[in-house]
Amino acid sequence: MARNQFRSPKGIRDVLPEEQPYWQHVESVIRETVRLFGYDRLDLPVFEETALFQRGVGEGTDIVDKEMYTFTDRSDTSITLRPEFTAGTMRAYLQNGMASLPKPVKLWSAGPVFRYERPQAGRFRQHTQFNVEAIGDQDPALDVEIMSVAWHLYKSLGFKNLSFQVNSIGCARCRPGYLHTLVVYYKDHVKEICDDCGKRLQKNPLRLLDCKQDQCQPVIRNAPPMVEMLCQECSVHFHALRTYLDELGRPYQLNNRLVRGLDYYTKTVFEVWAQDIGAQNAVCGGGRYDGLAEVLGGPPTPGVGFASGLERIILTMKEQNVEIPQVPGPRVFLAAQTESANRVIVRMLSDLREAGIAGVMGFGGRSLKARLREANRRGARYVLILGESELSRKRIQIKNMQGGEQREIAFEEVVSFFKEGDGSVSS
Ligand code: HAM
Repeated sequence: MARNQFRSPKGIRDVLPEEQPYWQHVESVIRETVRLFGYDRLDLPVFEETALFQRGVGEGTDIVDKEMYTFTDRSDTSITLRPEFTAGTMRAYLQNGMASLPKPVKLWSAGPVFRYERPQAGRFRQHTQFNVEAIGDQDPALDVEIMSVAWHLYKSLGFKNLSFQVNSIGCARCRPGYLHTLVVYYKDHVKEICDDCGKRLQKNPLRLLDCKQDQCQPVIRNAPPMVEMLCQECSVHFHALRTYLDELGRPYQLNNRLVRGLDYYTKTVFEVWAQDIGAQNAVCGGGRYDGLAEVLGGPPTPGVGFASGLERIILTMKEQNVEIPQVPGPRVFLAAQTESANRVIVRMLSDLREAGIAGVMGFGGRSLKARLREANRRGARYVLILGESELSRKRIQIKNMQGGEQREIAFEEVVSFFKEGDGSVSS
């Protein structure tokens, strides 16, 4: 490779044609899932004012402090490539008067998001999220519906061995008391924890609980759990959520350490983990964010949602050998053996496509053998072969690539042959 050849930026990948069948399959299962659950599509801009994420996701979070792609545009406005969808969804909800719609307003989005993270398997600097939000209701049954969207999606995709992790991280009323208790507990263990946790203790104590360093694990294990310090309202909400999950027979793990990395969460938080995809094992994450609208200058508006990374979904599918529908090749491949034959097949191919029949032709002069090899590689069902002798009779050879049978038909029969089904080439 030439030394000055460009490569994609670090942590950013191309989705090549051979991977597209996975994407198409996931996208079609997503569309069917949102249809079943009654969610409407919302398309959001790829970038927003930086302050939306600073306030929404929260200063002090890794996303805002370390991972955003932020730049100043030509009118000196600070702009950020979206690192997630929730803040933008709430901005659009408030800006477009969606509060007057029947509640909850149920929205889904999909597209690229950008985070300057350390790239590794399943972690990229541009990834694609499927995002779902239900805005305007506090009912714990809505939290369960949101979790069910994820559940249904993964079940429809044929996933096995998924584990639902669930926790409640309380609200503005009960969390400060819990954080105080947590900090008091950690102060007795400062010497045992890593340097990063030393900083978290000052800046963002809740994140102490999801530190991955070995040395912090015993301290985390014995930390007081948030669920035991929830206020009455949060406790009733969490109890109702768990009762619904039990009634639906959904297995889940109560995970006291699950705190999530975004500041807007209140009450319910959850993740779904796949065992087989390495360290980055969260296929989705989400929760309730009842304070977000106010942080963005709107009226009190509860909400709950989740997002799932499509790259991680596809990674999981590959690891679990999930079968996907094959994308069919072209119905027909047209091969001309001479230049005058070529002129005829160019027209014939145009007629076939007008009639809605997918076809391709061979370009540049090649041998018939090379043409058949090419047709095979492209997955064509039939090859139409036109040489000088057929041309003089205004007929064309038609070869079935599956059975190998071959026969001749008249030019004017070609479109109807494909329109009326495969016909029989062997007769
Ligand atoms: P999140 O946990 O930051 O949540 O991201 C959601 C999902 O996006 C993750 O579970 C993972 O599948 C995928 N993901 C995140 N970062 C990367 C990455 N660097 N590379 C590949 N995949 C990644 C949120 O973004 C919240 N907005 C979710 C939410 C919606 N909460 C409420 N509503």
